[in-house]
Amino acid sequence: MTLSGKRVFITGAATGIGRATAEHLAAEGARVFGAGLDGAEGADLASRHARAKNLFFRESDLTREAEVQAAVAAAAGEFGGLDAVVNCAGIYPTGKRLEEVSDTEWERTLAVNLTAIFRVCRATLPLLRDAGGGSIVNIASVHAEATVPGVPAYAATKAAVVGLSRQMALDYAVDRIRVNSLLVGSVATRMTLDGLEAAGGAEALGLSFEPNRIARIANPSEIATAIAFLISDAASFVTGSAMQVDGGLLARLL
Ligand SMILES: NC(=O)c1ccc[n+]([C@@H]2O[C@H](COP(=O)([O-])OP(=O)(O)OC[C@H]3O[C@@H](n4cnc5c(N)ncnc54)[C@H](O)[C@@H]3O)[C@@H](O)[C@H]2O)c1
Repeated sequence: MTLSGKRVFITGAATGIGRATAEHLAAEGARVFGAGLDGAEGADLASRHARAKNLFFRESDLTREAEVQAAVAAAAGEFGGLDAVVNCAGIYPTGKRLEEVSDTEWERTLAVNLTAIFRVCRATLPLLRDAGGGSIVNIASVHAEATVPGVPAYAATKAAVVGLSRQMALDYAVDRIRVNSLLVGSVATRMTLDGLEAAGGAEALGLSFEPNRIARIANPSEIATAIAFLISDAASFVTGSAMQVDGGLLARLL
């Protein structure tokens, strides 16, 4: 896989899957510009790479159009263009059936999990086109296909991310821009650990931390390597796909 010299914009890069991806790609020779909330963690990440100058972070609320544009402009200014985009930022509100979800919560979930992807793609597509093509990876979830009680807005947004990615793959093939989504299973990040606590623990959901189990909880680096494949030239014929990286979670009936 050739990642050397790839210029990558990653949202949600300060923590979890985004952070693991930023670190993995930088270690493989890519140049990474991260954007997202959790500024202290983001600054810490960037400071670890200050000498190598291969990983930068800009605190940005990507539900705000002006902050999307500023972050993308900063990345383009730093690298002189972009070759790949990874949309990782997301929120996971749980524990409410649809009738209990307020307009504010519904709109916030759509704004972070879906509209921010639309805006980041809108801002970065011209840069990918100018580079002669590129790759966009949008982080969806197994919730696009099969879900759990109490997450109506999250499940709706993740299914929409799959649909959006597939559609974009068609419109942008002409520009040699590949667009794929990832159906991610449970990963040991803040998001999952908080969710598991609310649901009564991993066992209550039939999930496991044991490495030899189907439907186990992944390490964030196991998602990062799948993302690395999709943005590399090794995936030159992969577009419009919703790639399952879930440890067999969706394969399981009971
Ligand atoms: N952890 C899992 O089990 C799991 C499973 C499937 C999919 N996912 C998806 O993976 C992605 C990353 O989640 P994670 O598990 O690493 O959790 P996480 O909470 O560590 O990461 C989410 C990131 O999104 C950023 N973010 C939230 N709101 C934002 C906003 N308005 N603007 C900019 N950035 C914002 C946060 O700062 C954070 O860095 C999410 O899209 C999530 O839905 C996670």
